[in-house]
Amino acid sequence: MGEKVSLSVIKADIGGFVGHSTVHPELVIKAKEELTKSGILIDFFVGTVGDDINLIMTHTLGVDHGEIHKLAWNTFLACTEVAKKLKLYGAGQDLLSDAFSGNVKGMGPGVAEMEFEERKSEPVIVFMADKTEPGAWNLPLYKMFADPFNTIGLVIDPKMHGGFLFEVHDLIHHKKVIFQCPEEIYDLLVFIGAPGHYCIKSVYTKEGEVAATSSTQRLNLMAGRYIGKDDPVCIVRCQNGLPAVGEALEPFAYPHLVAGWMRGSHVGPLMPVAMKDAVPSRFDGPPRAVALGFQLADGKLIGPQDFFADVSFNEARNTANQIANYVRRMGPFEPHRLPLNEMEYTTLPDVMKKLKDRFQEL
Ligand code: 13P
Ligand code: 13P
Ligand code: MG
Ligand code: MG
Repeated sequence: MGEKVSLSVIKADIGGFVGHSTVHPELVIKAKEELTKSGILIDFFVGTVGDDINLIMTHTLGVDHGEIHKLAWNTFLACTEVAKKLKLYGAGQDLLSDAFSGNVKGMGPGVAEMEFEERKSEPVIVFMADKTEPGAWNLPLYKMFADPFNTIGLVIDPKMHGGFLFEVHDLIHHKKVIFQCPEEIYDLLVFIGAPGHYCIKSVYTKEGEVAATSSTQRLNLMAGRYIGKDDPVCIVRCQNGLPAVGEALEPFAYPHLVAGWMRGSHVGPLMPVAMKDAVPSRFDGPPRAVALGFQLADGKLIGPQDFFADVSFNEARNTANQIANYVRRMGPFEPHRLPLNEMEYTTLPDVMKKLKDRFQEL
């Protein structure tokens, strides 16, 4: 058995340039500087999507390791200093506290990590999204690992034919449950069809090998006030008993509707784009997804391959723009605007409080 490698993706919004649209290049430079001098990483890549910085890091310390989380935290703090100097919008937005407690979970940044024995060839995809929430990965992960109309490997590859295990988290009541698929896909869909409440945290092979994992924290629920949506990340391992790269990308040819967009309060299509095109502008959107592919080589990140730059996703982008045109015309009306229970952590309750005394009994 070789030494296991860990892939950690830790992300935060520490200030937007301009508004909530992108990350200023100086923040990326600062993040690279901090990670370079750390000495505890095998390799890293600093990715961006909209106004979110994603630290993609490999190491041998395992998941949930204090040193890695501290490195990410301190990197975000250093970037915050730059953001403050440039007066970027919402500088330090995702850092909920000034004091680091040993683990970034629950403190603002989003985290997706996995540890595994690197295979003879280890293709991975890091999906990063902006202007949406962790549940945005539910539908694509379901398609990748449970839908034979998306993933033909489930039908014709004997190594995939047995199906996968889905670990689902209840983000409101802090519980988890594991579903066997395909046996329990109808049970699974009851829950993951409500992506604001139930999220696919990880997918495992039936032998218990990790295949995919996502970030699932909800900052607003933690902070009790509006601080933007928790723009999520997701790692998917590919090939040889797992979905082929093209099977993992295929769900994004359909720009499904997700929660987020303007003020984190609207439903809109998730548009797959190249990293350079992840500049959510129209109504602060529409929501974006970027897919960075890497081959791991003894923990080195060979890449990235910016998959959604491919012209085969042009139609998805066109469709997303058409859906955006259509749904925007509803303005402040549901279901374009999120339902009231989802607006609880926005600024809407303050407006409602002001009008409270105007209501009379019927
Ligand atoms: P693997 O069997 O290596 O996953 O490759 C299958 C394939 O050709 C995907 O397009
Ligand atoms: P972010 O969550 O990406 O910061 O966006 C917040 C927002 O209010 C966009 O309109
Ligand atoms: Mg922002
Ligand atoms: Mg963002």
